[in-house]
Amino acid sequence: MKPPVRILILHGPNLNLLGRREPEVYGTRTLDDINSSLTELAGTLGVAVDCFQSNHEGGLIDRIHAAVPEAVQGIIINPGGFTHTSVALRDALAAVGLPALEVHLSNVHAREDFRRHSLIAPVVIGQIVGLGAEGYHLALRAMASRLVS
Ligand code: DQA
Repeated sequence: MKPPVRILILHGPNLNLLGRREPEVYGTRTLDDINSSLTELAGTLGVAVDCFQSNHEGGLIDRIHAAVPEAVQGIIINPGGFTHTSVALRDALAAVGLPALEVHLSNVHAREDFRRHSLIAPVVIGQIVGLGAEGYHLALRAMASRLVS
């Protein structure tokens, strides 16, 4: 039997505080809750997910590099504040060349001007913004349907 398609889900800085971080912007669901629901959904889609959060740019970059030897086939990433600042994170995604989707819980286009620009957007297939935790579910469905034959 073929091993299941593996999808890496990356959460950037401050997303460990979901549930109590500005709930009016980011909702009340915790990161553990979101990750559990993604793992459950993955099971119904016939894929496997690895969820990882880091507050450190290098930690996220190391995890992206490790994706290739770990036979990960797709990446879903909410880069948090690094979206708007990190050339290095963008370069890591470009370097591994895996299909990736960018997710933001909030509508970054309806907030401060600096949130409207993503350094990550040019190296991903697409973005889902403003749909809260549901955005991760939609991204997982889209990635799974792309990768599962
Ligand atoms: C975010 C949006 C970013 O601008 C912000 O820095 C975050 C969360 C979101 O999910 O809406 O940390 O990525």
